[in-house]
Order: sequence, then structure tokens, then C-alpha cells
Amino acid sequence: MAKEKSMWFCSECGNDSPKWVGRCPSCGAWNTMVEERVKAKSSKSISLSSRSLSRPQKVSEIEAIDEPRIKMPSKELNRVLGGGLVAGSLVLIGGEPGIGKSTLVLQNTLSIRSKRILYISGEESATQLKMRADRIGRVCDNVLIACETSLDNIMKHIEDTKPEMVVVDSIQTIASDDIESAAGSVSQVRECSARLLKYAKESGVPVILIGHINKEGSIAGPKVLEHIVDAVLQFEGDRHYMYRILRSIKNRFGSTSELGIYEMGQKGLREVTNPSEMLLSHNSDEELSGMAIGITLEGLRPFLIEAQALVSTAAYGTPQRTVTGFDSKRMNMLLAVLEKRVGFKLAQKDVFLNIAGGLKVNDTALDLPIISAILSSNVDMAIPRDMCLCGEIGLSGEIRQVTRLEQRISEAEKLGMKTIVIPRYNLKGVDTSRYSIEIKEVAKVEEAFRLLFS
Ligand code: TYD
Ligand code: MG
Repeated sequence: MAKEKSMWFCSECGNDSPKWVGRCPSCGAWNTMVEERVKAKSSKSISLSSRSLSRPQKVSEIEAIDEPRIKMPSKELNRVLGGGLVAGSLVLIGGEPGIGKSTLVLQNTLSIRSKRILYISGEESATQLKMRADRIGRVCDNVLIACETSLDNIMKHIEDTKPEMVVVDSIQTIASDDIESAAGSVSQVRECSARLLKYAKESGVPVILIGHINKEGSIAGPKVLEHIVDAVLQFEGDRHYMYRILRSIKNRFGSTSELGIYEMGQKGLREVTNPSEMLLSHNSDEELSGMAIGITLEGLRPFLIEAQALVSTAAYGTPQRTVTGFDSKRMNMLLAVLEKRVGFKLAQKDVFLNIAGGLKVNDTALDLPIISAILSSNVDMAIPRDMCLCGEIGLSGEIRQVTRLEQRISEAEKLGMKTIVIPRYNLKGVDTSRYSIEIKEVAKVEEAFRLLFS
């Protein structure tokens, strides 16, 4: 029988150590070492190095082959994956519990009719999955469901059913008998994903792992998972809103700036193909102060979002600053710029800022719409609903250039905007005669203020 011993693992990076240390020697994090009982390494444990010796090659000698990809039924998912699921890849879908990871994967696998898929569920019973499938309204006989938490049994199921795609929901519930510690611990997660990675690489079958994210936002402690897998997709959103965003954090086969937007409804997830529509409020006939429309880029896709601000006289000594969907430090910086450049006594005002739709944005081109919303609320004058803005604000109040301006202008035009306010000099080399939208250029915060409110 294999001898048991204790090992300490860092819950941040997965580094192991034979004895306890206060600070992880690998990632430098304090107090992250956790004790786990492991059996002395048996012959079954993995080594990722291959047995046969490979010959080093020149780059020019290497044959370029297009990885075969399995097209996913959801276009948004396909785009985030970089054009489909690559054969032999290990993809991790992470997100907070209850955000809709299982729904997303089940809905997609149930719509692929041409492939045999093995869906391992360690969290839900077969009946629960059936209820969910009924709710989504899809039944497909190519998908085999196995409720299993033992890695060895899972490998046996894989051997028996010879699937063309495997889903493991979730990696934190499965455990290998070779390791003493409980499912979800660093060493289990590491061992199980390494075994599945080895299987994916050897067989060419893509494996999708679902993983929970802890409060700090990392995928259940072990960052180990992130560097083992080929792609990490994060499913996020505010539970109080229906919208869910699928973001790629790492992708060996595609861009990481892509984004997919879904809406959770009664019958599962629905793709949102025109995000601008969902993010703008619909009372467009009425012009209200404190609202400004900005054009942002997420991934390669531009869309319109609405910044809403409320400025009121501070009732108590310290004014309140409440921000949803935007970086609060950045808003404070923008307020300081306004104070200095436009002479607003914002220190005596409460400022509330909200990005409509529950989206979190961090595009600096939204600085201009955000200060416009704040100023609009402050002077109580509305900004026309058919005007949108983009521009980064510098510390001295200058409006700086934004990336991919042409794409932003085209999108604004397509969505029926009549005017767009952009940073001056950003138009160099751009053929403005192509656009019918009116383009206004500003170079300073003061100038933008005059343009909007006088
Ligand atoms: P789920 O996929 O179980 O989340 P995860 O796997 O990330 O933990 O989704 C859970 C939530 O989604 C649950 O609170 C119910 C809701 N939901 C709907 O609103 N509509 C639906 O059609 C389905 C299937 C789930
Ligand atoms: Mg789930």
C-alpha cells in the first residue's frame, strides 16, 4: 500500500512544499499554504512529458495545419472561443455559482446533433439535469449523461463510450483515488485536470471543464488550473440583471479581447446580438438630465452604453461617491479634473454614477460620456438622445485620442445617432465624407462643456 504523507500546497499558485512555510516561495503570497494528505507518488501519477524523444525542428520546417474546430451552436460562444472548439483542447469555463455555466454548456451540447458527447455531472442528479433540459426545451440522444465524481470511473466511462467531446461539471467535485485530500482541494484539482489534459491531448477529443470562482475571483483558489488549460472563459454578470457576459481571459487559439453577451430567460440563455439595444433605456422621446450615451469597444465589437449620473447637494460633511459598473478611483480622478478645469464645486456635492444594464466597463474612451453625464446632472440640462461621445480625459483636462475611432463612428451611425463628439486630431487620415453622422471635435473639457450646455 502506498505510504501516506503530508504536503503543503499554495492555494494561489499550487506550488507544493514538504513543510509549512509562511510565504509561498513561488508566488510570494502570504498565508496561502494548506496541508493535504497525499499518498506517495504511485506509478499511475502523471508526467506530461512524452515517452518518445522528439527532434527539435526549425520553425520553417514545421507543417502549418489548421486545427480542426467543432462549431458550437451558439455564435457568441464560438466567437469567444476564437471560431469554435479546437480538437484536443482543454477549455475551462469559470464563474460564480448560479451564474449559468451549466445552463450554457448543457444548452450548447444538446444542440450539437452530429457528435457523441459525454456530460459528466458531479453536482446535479440525472433528474435535475433532465428537468433543466426540459426547461431549455432540447432533448438530444447524442448526449450521454453520467453522474460521477470519481476520476477513475470517469476515465472508464470515457473508454466505454468513446465520446467526441467531454464536459466535466465541475472540476471541483471530482476526485482521484490516488490522492487522499478532498475533492476541490488544490492537489485534487491539479491531478484531475492534468489527467483530463493528458486524455485530451492524446485522443484529440476536446474537454470542457466547468469551475467555480471563489470570492477573490480566482478559479477556486488554484491558479494551477489557469496555466494547465488552453483557454479560460469567464462567465460573469450581476445576478440582479438578466445579462451575462462571457469573456475570454486566456486563449491559445484565439483573441482574448472577445466578448459574448447572453440574456438569462425562462427558457435558458438567449444570445444578445445587438448589445446596444439592451443597454440603452427605451424612453428615448423624453430627454432627461444626467444621461449621456457613450460608445465603447469590448473586444472587436463597438456598442453604445448609457452613463447615468446624479449630482445633489451633500447633506453631510463628507460627500458621497457611489459608482456602479465603473472604476470608482477613475471617477474620483475625473471629478478632480472637473473641479480644477471647469470650476465645479463638486466637493460639496454627492455624486452617484451608474452604467445602465449592469455592465462593468473599463474603456477609457468612456471618460467623456461619464463627465458629460455628471455635468448634465449638475446643470440640470439634458444631452440630446441622438448624440454620443467618446474620449479619454487626461489629468490636465485635455481630451485624448481613442482607439479604433472609425469603428466607433460607423457603429454610432448604424444605430441611428445623429451626432458624435470625438477628441480633436483623432480624425487624422480618416475619410469623414463616408459618414453621414455629424462629427464634432473637442480638445478640452471646457470646450466639451460649452458645446453641450450653451
Ligand atoms: P446554472 O446553470 O445552474 O448555474 P451554475 O452552473 O453556474 O451554477 O444556472 C442557475 C440559475 O439560472 C438558476 O438560478 C436558475 C437560472 N435559470 C433561469 O433563469 N432560466 C433557465 O432556463 C435556467 C435553466 C436557469
Ligand atoms: Mg452548475
